[in-house]
Amino acid sequence: MSFTPFELEAWQSRYEHSVAHNLADSGCHPVGLGELLAHDPDAIGRLLAVDLNYPPVGGTDALRALIADWHTAAADNVLVTVGAAEANALTVATLVGPGDHVVVMEPGYRQVRGCALNAGADVDAFPLAPDHQWRPDLDALDRLVRPGTKLIAVTNPNNPVGTILTEPEIDAIIAAADRVGAWILADEVYRGTELLTDRITPTFWGRYDKTVCVGSLSKAFGLPGLRLGWLVAPPALVDATWRRHEYATISAGTLSMHLAETALAPATRDRLLTRNRTLVRDGCARLQNWVDDHKGLLSIIPPHATALAFVQYHLPRPSLEVADALRVHGSVLVGAGTQFGVEHHLRITHGLEAGYLDAALSSISRVLTGLA
Ligand SMILES: Cc1ncc(COP(=O)(O)O)c(C=O)c1O
Repeated sequence: MSFTPFELEAWQSRYEHSVAHNLADSGCHPVGLGELLAHDPDAIGRLLAVDLNYPPVGGTDALRALIADWHTAAADNVLVTVGAAEANALTVATLVGPGDHVVVMEPGYRQVRGCALNAGADVDAFPLAPDHQWRPDLDALDRLVRPGTKLIAVTNPNNPVGTILTEPEIDAIIAAADRVGAWILADEVYRGTELLTDRITPTFWGRYDKTVCVGSLSKAFGLPGLRLGWLVAPPALVDATWRRHEYATISAGTLSMHLAETALAPATRDRLLTRNRTLVRDGCARLQNWVDDHKGLLSIIPPHATALAFVQYHLPRPSLEVADALRVHGSVLVGAGTQFGVEHHLRITHGLEAGYLDAALSSISRVLTGLA
């Protein structure tokens, strides 16, 4: 059977440690261990006392309860995984088989698409429409969803364009799924990275029975190195994904679960969200100014969330060629639009320290001007 590689992640793993500036990771500047533990005088003692045994395979009770609270679910709806990546992969492996039909949102993080193709499914994409400010084309979704559609996958807020779905849009997606009894996979890793409001993006959880929500500590919480994620699902599906989790990884790490309990405790959770929102709001403003300085060459539809900017360049060259030129001649790594399903764009991460971001953007300017 043919295999569809995950082009974006392959690009990152190949090059992200060999450039001066990495603007291809999709979170904000990561939180240090000292910073995570700083506000609790007993935290280091508790960390040093951790017994490095296998943890509870589905997550500690305390952690499952904290994750449940983030999605207004119950602890038995939660399976703790190795990042959102494992949660997405387990969900597709559990729900999708050969010949099934899957609908994904594009532009998008193409993990669910690739996993579904590799499971032998037919995959269609419904667009976030650039001529409608990256709003979802719900008529297209409705046309695509058919009897036999097993799964509709959305990312909310969206990677790479930062669209936050409105309540009527969420209702329409659920109605499309309900019409044919499809599952919804709502990847919610970017909840908490809102740029224009302090209101956390509403979760899909609790609206429709056949829903799986996926989250992680990698984006809004700034802790990607913990490799700690989760899925939230009806208990029977938690059970079925858990059986696959035992094959794939057995469990996330003991230290990661311990630190995740710290990160999601209410006081720390709010401190991390505030820290990271400050970074993404500042980064987004810098990025927007930089785009404005390159009128005619660059343009952007302003995102509503995430640490990401999906910038259109007005040059007659494919995005992988442009991204490769930036890597080779500017030592900057960015995502190429084609890796998200849309050409002539670059995905540029901006939620980084100001000096680092500014230096990287200057390098991009230099190389792009040379290509123009
Ligand atoms: C939409 C989306 N889902 C899942 C992931 C994987 O996240 P994690 O680091 O939690 O595995 C990413 C990472 O970029 C992402 O953008």
